[in-house]
Amino acid sequence: MNSVTDLSRRIVQYRFGDPHAVLRVEEDVAVPPLSEGEVRVRVARSIIHPGDLQLVEARYSQPTPAIPAGRVPGLEAAGVVEEAAPRALDGTGIALGSRVAFFAPGAWQSRAVVPAASLVAVPDDLPDSVATQILINTITARHVLRTALRALPVTPRRIVQTAAASAVGKLITVLALKNGLAPIRLVRSPESARRLSTVLPGEDIVDTSSSDWQDAVRKAAGGDVPVVFDGLAGALLGDIAALLNMGGTIVSYGALAGRMADLNLFVPKALTLRSVTIGTWRSDTTPDERNEDMTEAIRIARAVPEIHGGYREFDLTDLGAAIDAVSAPGKAGNVILKF
Ligand SMILES: NC(=O)c1ccc[n+]([C@@H]2O[C@H](COP(=O)([O-])OP(=O)(O)OC[C@H]3O[C@@H](n4cnc5c(N)ncnc54)[C@H](OP(=O)(O)O)[C@@H]3O)[C@@H](O)[C@H]2O)c1
Repeated sequence: MNSVTDLSRRIVQYRFGDPHAVLRVEEDVAVPPLSEGEVRVRVARSIIHPGDLQLVEARYSQPTPAIPAGRVPGLEAAGVVEEAAPRALDGTGIALGSRVAFFAPGAWQSRAVVPAASLVAVPDDLPDSVATQILINTITARHVLRTALRALPVTPRRIVQTAAASAVGKLITVLALKNGLAPIRLVRSPESARRLSTVLPGEDIVDTSSSDWQDAVRKAAGGDVPVVFDGLAGALLGDIAALLNMGGTIVSYGALAGRMADLNLFVPKALTLRSVTIGTWRSDTTPDERNEDMTEAIRIARAVPEIHGGYREFDLTDLGAAIDAVSAPGKAGNVILKF
């Protein structure tokens, strides 16, 4: 095994909490040797997902463990393979020097050690800034749709989506249309509706800040709303429950609203809340499904380039601004760190 002992630049936390308070940039960190099956990727770009910041806070895991050795956040990046453990790349079609994207922990560092199995080869026509955006959100969108369609008793004609202008929301729209499902897309402002219609044109974008938005949804759905795909939670869930058919389903994959969900109507309307997380993707899917999910990520990035546009890139010296941009209103695209 090669023993490269070069240095890395990384974002690290030594305790969980507010990202502004606990994240720091460290220079000249020694890189560890590789173990069996691992590769080292020279990271060029790494996306900040909203969920990455929730993990920095440990929002969903209390009490939080101590992390005296430090934890490097981030789950997705793009770069070049610079070193590999013996035979780690056998049969992958990837070689030293290949451009790759990966979905694995510890992405926010210039030289990341990840399992070779987490790599996807990136074609020349996809820049690193796009390649770092494609895996987690496409996998989530496909996993959400696949899980929902398997669970629903009848394939719906129409679906309703909240947070339709979010990165995952847009991918759910693209995949739903491909599956013959016509989405009714909810956004929270006229500006967001306008922005979304330029990226993914089509009818049935409904602004929930308008007074008659529920009527607009009922009308578009012809009075039949069997399922809603929700990335918000919070108070809007109560309004969504009111719109749903008796016995309808909410497929929940996110909580952008960051508040307690309103479940008051769930019992009287016999609604089902079905949650889907990428955390169970590997155990819920076959190797063929996982390969197809990753291949589809590349396919969509090439076929619908607008979907990964509007992104903003930040140097590590602007980490605070990058953190703020992740949840800023009017976000037009993903937030990306430059390494
Ligand atoms: N289940 C999983 O495994 C999984 C995987 C990935 C992501 N997620 C979750 O999926 C959700 C979406 O992630 P993302 O990366 O796609 O988000 P994102 O692109 O950062 O979302 C930004 C968009 O969401 C809209 N938005 C934000 N807060 C809103 C609110 N309170 N009400 C209405 N619209 C709001 C914004 O609207 P404006 O344009 O009006 O500002 C903007 O269009 C997050 O909760 C994330 O944690 C879950």
